Amino acid sequence: MQTGQPSRTARGAAAYRAIHQTEDGGTIFSDPFAQEILDDEARATRDAIAADPSLRPMRLFIAARSRFSEDTLAACVARGVRQIVVLGAGLDTFSLRNPYAGRGVRVFEVDYPATQAWKRESLAQAGLAIPSSLTFAPVDFERQSLAEGLMAAGFLPDRPAFFQWLGVAMYLTREAVASTLDFIAGVPESEVVFDYAEPFENYPADRRAVIMAIAESAAARGEPWLSLFDPVELTELLRSKGFRTVEDLGIAGLSERFYGHLKQGVRVGPGGHVVRAQNSS
Ligand SMILES: C[S@@+](CC[C@H](N)C(=O)[O-])C[C@H]1O[C@@H](n2cnc3c(N)ncnc32)[C@H](O)[C@@H]1O
Repeated sequence: MQTGQPSRTARGAAAYRAIHQTEDGGTIFSDPFAQEILDDEARATRDAIAADPSLRPMRLFIAARSRFSEDTLAACVARGVRQIVVLGAGLDTFSLRNPYAGRGVRVFEVDYPATQAWKRESLAQAGLAIPSSLTFAPVDFERQSLAEGLMAAGFLPDRPAFFQWLGVAMYLTREAVASTLDFIAGVPESEVVFDYAEPFENYPADRRAVIMAIAESAAARGEPWLSLFDPVELTELLRSKGFRTVEDLGIAGLSERFYGHLKQGVRVGPGGHVVRAQNSS
């Protein structure tokens, strides 16, 4: 992160979700606020991304990770979870759509303070009201305590919770990833969905240059990739922290489960993964 600046990659992720609504009809992930929440710069980013067909696989991945997360969130609510924590929320809109608010489901959005301030401005400019079920908790994962930030916002660490943590882990140091997982593992009956990227050496030579170029472009925007994980290593890490159920979907698993007819032309192999981990089975 550039000190004191809102995340630029958050703008990109939101732009991809907006394009998924128009180009793919929101088939994988429907988000009625995806366009409205974009500010002028995010709309420009959206138009630039939409003009580049090579970015289609990334768009489908970003739609699928949200779908996998919100499907898991729904299952958590069905089993009685009433606290939802969106870590590194960016311009994610679940808190605006929360269909479980009437059942007492509270949403805590945690983000880098400058990103969160920018989101709040974007909401105000778009005329989108902040629901009473949403509480903001500004926290820098590298420098501040997630537990303290959440508890100051009213989060109850002795009650079950679902954590959505999308598009964030790769931008954090391994220490920050580990301490975040430790915190989640300490919350009873907690469940988390997050995504990660594989190390460059896992890619075949012909794809390595492409993935390295994507990483370089994130670094050029001040948000370098700091943590990459091999799938086997990550599962071991999660189990060592007490997560007894671990479900890891790579591109093949995601496209099989969520892409439907859109999976045509998608190349499977190493790439992004989305993981669901639960600390009690
Ligand atoms: C690629 S964006 C993803 C945003 C959102 N989850 C989404 O999928 O649209 C990365 C997010 O991680 C947050 N982030 C990165 N480093 C952080 C840190 N050290 N502390 C808190 N948040 C951080 C950024 O502010 C940003 O919201």
